[in-house]
Amino acid sequence: MCGIVGYIGKKQAVPILLDGLKRLEYRGYDSAGISVIANGKMVTTKATGKVVELENKIGSKRIEANIGIAHTRWATHGKPCDKNSHPHGDCSGDIALVHNGIIENYLELKNQLQQKGHKFSSETDSEVVAHLIEEFSKKNDFREAVLESLKLIKGTYGLAILNKKYPSQMIVARLGSPLILGVGKDEVIVASDASAIVQYTDKVVYLEDGEVAIINTEGYEVITSKNKQIEKKVSTLDWNMEQAQKNGFAHFMLKETFEQPETIKNAMRGRLSKEDGMAKLGGLRDVEDKLKKINRIIIVSCGTSYNAGLIGEYMIEEYAGIPVEVEYASEFRYRKPLLDSKTAVIAISQSGETADTLAAIREAKNKGALTLGIINTVSSTIARETDAGVYNHAGPEIGVASTKAFTSQLTILALLAVFLGRQRDMSLVTGQRIISELEKIPNQIEKILEKHKEIKKIAKKYVGFSDFLYMGRKYNFPIALEGALKIKEISYVHAEGYATGEMKHGPIALIDASFPSLFIVPKDSVYDKNVSGMQEIKARSGKILAIATKGDTEISKHADDVIYIPKTLEMLTPLLSVIPLQLLAYYVGVYRGFDVDKPRNLAKSVTVE
Ligand code: AGP
Repeated sequence: MCGIVGYIGKKQAVPILLDGLKRLEYRGYDSAGISVIANGKMVTTKATGKVVELENKIGSKRIEANIGIAHTRWATHGKPCDKNSHPHGDCSGDIALVHNGIIENYLELKNQLQQKGHKFSSETDSEVVAHLIEEFSKKNDFREAVLESLKLIKGTYGLAILNKKYPSQMIVARLGSPLILGVGKDEVIVASDASAIVQYTDKVVYLEDGEVAIINTEGYEVITSKNKQIEKKVSTLDWNMEQAQKNGFAHFMLKETFEQPETIKNAMRGRLSKEDGMAKLGGLRDVEDKLKKINRIIIVSCGTSYNAGLIGEYMIEEYAGIPVEVEYASEFRYRKPLLDSKTAVIAISQSGETADTLAAIREAKNKGALTLGIINTVSSTIARETDAGVYNHAGPEIGVASTKAFTSQLTILALLAVFLGRQRDMSLVTGQRIISELEKIPNQIEKILEKHKEIKKIAKKYVGFSDFLYMGRKYNFPIALEGALKIKEISYVHAEGYATGEMKHGPIALIDASFPSLFIVPKDSVYDKNVSGMQEIKARSGKILAIATKGDTEISKHADDVIYIPKTLEMLTPLLSVIPLQLLAYYVGVYRGFDVDKPRNLAKSVTVE
């Protein structure tokens, strides 16, 4: 999730673009860059790191230009460095463009263009688009060349494109990544979100998927990718900058919770191969043969990433038949783990910088194990130090309480189970089944999110309780742990997650009318066992909130409140059952008046022991 901004008008473009980048920096801060057309020349400046590095590089140089584009990067393809920074150009230097999204078929297009003699200067997927436009510009004008290029691209994009041969024109296009036109007096500001626009105008045009805008000093025209004109509504913004950064949500945690349908799609994007029931994980290509030979997996991680690892254990053991152990990284690093070259140690980490997880990976490496990473932050230390891995592509997660990174980790663990399973004895049909059910998950989560008001009401009923017992079985035992962790982090409620079967070996002693329980009880292979646990709690007049499967008409007899989730494969239920628990923790935290984005005593990335 990068931030792009463009300006065309009568004012000096450079200061407006730099200011826009600062407001979009929360979207990505690996590198930044700017291109303007000044006196007929394309002037491009790039810098690795935060926008201030770019500003320092431009320094006091006054670049007279009224048209320009800029970008702040969240790396997906190619490590953070100057050459991978946007804007990217073509061989002639006529074209400059900034891109937010993922070009899935970029390798294929790059090979074809290299055979036509194009020279590439970066490792990014985005640069391919500049060379495609160059190629089509040989027989077409700027607009046609862009439209022809878009036809060949698979993936997602928010694009802003300049062409030196058309010095007073900018073309922008959207498919999957947000893009807004800010319509001011004699000027248009283009941006990934309104935070870079609100200080110039409150008149905005939201581009929809498949729409392209041709912008020049006279104004703008919106067309379809088939070059058909579209009448667009001009909306009025009533947000301040912070609100714009949160897309109108009250907190980043809520915004990121509602981003999950999209971030789960991003975790799957270009990685599903339905026809052969396989998962394509490019980041594991170099170790594919080694992975065929491994006979043991150890997952090392902390906090929410540890809970994801526990679900990965269930998935990989059931669908790939490889024994898995999940370790707290902080314990693993001081234990004497017995590892060998047939052991793969997988680090799961959103930040990729968690000290305990990093140390655990270094320990595993010293012991000759194959080390892998499931990491969200591209080029973070753990990503660099593991032998291979898979990126989440969930974009920056600002809220300290992890939400979208967690469900993205579960998605990748499901893909890994298919990848390893199909290397072994998983059938084509099973692979295809898991993939088709995975593809339904984003819409199913949308359905749950639509019930946020109902969940808010239920949260109000439980806001007064200072203790809570979360329980689940099998795939949803770790969700009981995750739900309890969320409400601890956000609302400071003393909650414990437990395997339902463990309850009668102690925790049930806590239960009375003042100590509520939450059961994750979908219609799965352990449903009846969970229900008998609920009856034992009810027998001690405990209050019960249940997360159950839509259409389960029995469950409400055993619970005071029920939140229903859609039906899916047992192994995928955690991707759905966690959503109400994220919202519950959020609303209880808000009702209690806490800063849910920056909870006390916590840090987003724990880089110390
Ligand atoms: C989760 O909400 C917390 N922020 C915390 O437990 C976190 O999961 C843990 O610190 C691990 O972080 P990582 O995924 O960045 O390694």
